[in-house]
Amino acid sequence: MWMKARALPFVMFLSSCLFGALSPVLSQAQQPAAEKNAQSQSTPAANASSPEASKYVGSETCKTCHEDQYKQIEATQHWNTNLANLKKGTGQEWHGCESCHGPGSAHVEGGGDVSKIFTFKGATAQQVGARCLACHGSTHPNFQRSVHYQAEVSCISCHSPHQAKEQVALLKAKTPTLCYGCHNDAMADFNRPFHHRVNEGLVQCQDCHNVHDSLPKAAKISTAQDQICLKCHTEKRGPFVFNHLPVKTEGCTACHVPHGSNNPRLLTRNSVNNLCIECHGLSTFLTLHNQSNKYQACTMCHVAIHGSNASGVFFK
Ligand code: HEC
Ligand code: HEC
Ligand code: HEC
Ligand code: HEC
Ligand code: HEC
Ligand code: HEC
Ligand code: HEC
Ligand code: HEC
Ligand code: HEC
Ligand code: HEC
Repeated sequence: MWMKARALPFVMFLSSCLFGALSPVLSQAQQPAAEKNAQSQSTPAANASSPEASKYVGSETCKTCHEDQYKQIEATQHWNTNLANLKKGTGQEWHGCESCHGPGSAHVEGGGDVSKIFTFKGATAQQVGARCLACHGSTHPNFQRSVHYQAEVSCISCHSPHQAKEQVALLKAKTPTLCYGCHNDAMADFNRPFHHRVNEGLVQCQDCHNVHDSLPKAAKISTAQDQICLKCHTEKRGPFVFNHLPVKTEGCTACHVPHGSNNPRLLTRNSVNNLCIECHGLSTFLTLHNQSNKYQACTMCHVAIHGSNASGVFFK
């Protein structure tokens, strides 16, 4: 696990810097359950007169029977859900274990009655999403309209609060391995001779995709896919005095495949001249050029094929 238990005091120190008068709560978070309850009843959100509040037993009580799960959560950022005064603005009550599993008093009184606690086993993507989005809704507001959610892929298809294999974002596996688990085609693409070096770790799936968002093809940015490409390929951005029209109107994928290709330069066609002639037509080409070999390699002369400030036919 990435954040060892002994790193906690440091995290808590950081938290207390950020959240001022936190120290009383911090020490109480480590006290036995009975005292902790007494403390939480003194906060307005969990007033003793509220019937909801009495249903929460606190993480320390859960620990008495679920020590393994307790230790798992203790080592991650979700430990912070025990810190009542961090909940400001989320609209969700924060109760450690019970933030996700719901109030546990009936479960405990029933000696661990599994029908009295929310378990993620067999839960639908909707049920899981509702739990997680109670707190993460503001950072992932469009998840419910995303391709993944629509296809019943849930938060915990990719994340695991208890048993994450990756320190980054509590992922169940590193990307691209995580994604290849469901996207075989993408794996094949990135194994082609010419490819963005995703398998090699140079570029990541999530550089181009936002799996939480609602844009078509899980695109990262709404304004045409090109904006994503231009983030890294800045020299293709322009503005140019002379634009090669399809770069502007159709975008990068008019001529390139984004993942991987059998063709050099990730081109959609196996040679540059086939690509050019597909749009320009052989006859147009022949009116200006003859069929001698010197004209075969179009980009030998039309060098600045993405746009130029000096030549309307992209010679430089
Ligand atoms: C951020 C939400 C969240 C928090 C907080 C949380 N859990 Fe879980 N719990 C889950 C999810 C999701 C699963 C399903 C397994 C997984 O994906 O890690 C789960 C599974 C479990 C299970 C079933 C066994 C298993 O591993 O599948 C137990 C028992 C459990 N949690 C107890 C606890 C206890 C005790 C705490 C507090 C120390 C706690 N949980 C805190 C989300 C949470
Ligand atoms: C008195 C002991 C006890 C306490 C306290 C307790 N549990 Fe349990 N819990 C159990 C038992 C026993 C089971 C059933 C275990 C099994 O089937 O593997 C269980 C099952 C669960 C499951 C379902 C696991 C599954 O396999 O589906 C979850 C989730 C869970 N507990 C969460 C909690 C949380 C959260 C708390 C604190 C609010 C808590 N428990 C407190 C004894 C306890
Ligand atoms: C298809 C896989 C997948 C699904 C489904 C998914 N996530 Fe993620 N999530 C990721 C990946 C990959 C990252 C890390 C890269 C990134 O930030 O996009 C991440 C990052 C995050 C982060 C940390 C960074 C950030 O963007 O805030 C949070 C929090 C998060 N996810 C919560 C959720 C929640 C809540 C759900 C369900 C409503 C969910 N995720 C569904 C794959 C997924
Ligand atoms: C009670 C509020 C709450 C609930 C419910 C909750 N989380 Fe979180 N989550 C947090 C907090 C607080 C953090 C720590 C980081 C932060 O402050 O944003 C966090 C962190 C994360 C991160 C790591 C973010 C990173 O930057 O690495 C992921 C992933 C995540 N949560 C996923 C989930 C999933 C999946 C669920 C549902 C099973 C869930 N959360 C339920 C409050 C919550
Ligand atoms: C360099 C940017 C980039 C990277 C890196 C990238 N993608 Fe894509 N991906 C795209 C673009 C752009 C499209 C849309 C293609 C189109 O519309 O023709 C796409 C489309 C897809 C599709 C839809 C099906 C298809 O092939 O059109 C899936 C699924 C997908 N990507 C998964 C992945 C996975 C999984 C990874 C990591 C292993 C990944 N992508 C990495 C840019 C990228
Ligand atoms: C649990 C399985 C699962 C995992 C893991 C997963 N996906 Fe998906 N993904 C799907 C399903 C199902 C769909 C919707 C059906 C489809 O188009 O394949 C989808 C759709 C997509 C699409 C849109 C495809 C389109 O044609 O519009 C992209 C892009 C994508 N996923 C990227 C990713 C990336 C990147 C990751 C890793 C961070 C990932 N997925 C992880 C199952 C998964
Ligand atoms: C995260 C940064 C990043 C993003 C985003 C990105 N690329 Fe790349 N791209 C690279 C890197 C790095 C290389 C160099 C390839 C190498 O050396 O493996 C490259 C190489 C290329 C090449 C040339 C391959 C060759 O053989 O010379 C093309 C074409 C290309 N990218 C097109 C695109 C397109 C189209 C998009 C948008 C869908 C895109 N790139 C998005 C980083 C990126
Ligand atoms: C009209 C077709 C076309 C479009 C549209 C296009 N390219 Fe290209 N691109 C090419 C050709 C042809 C080559 C190979 C040039 C050569 O022969 O060296 C190339 C090469 C590249 C290379 C590698 C060599 C270099 O010049 O750096 C990158 C990177 C690249 N393109 C990125 C992009 C990006 C990013 C976009 C979208 C903004 C884009 N391309 C749009 C035709 C196109
Ligand atoms: C996706 C279609 C497409 C592809 C592929 C394409 N072009 Fe173009 N090109 C155009 C369009 C549209 C124009 C705008 C001029 C027009 O109306 O014909 C243009 C303009 C030009 C011009 C400027 C002269 C003029 O007619 O205005 C040159 C030179 C040119 N292209 C060369 C090439 C070369 C060389 C290639 C191959 C590397 C290529 N094009 C690939 C669509 C394409
Ligand atoms: C040896 C250099 C050379 C090569 C190689 C070459 N061209 Fe040209 N191209 C020219 C010259 C010279 C012109 C005329 C420029 C002018 O009008 O100023 C031209 C003009 C064009 C035009 C503009 C026509 C118009 O309507 O104004 C297009 C389109 C074009 N070439 C496409 C291609 C394609 C496609 C290829 C590859 C199959 C190619 N060229 C290979 C030198 C070359």
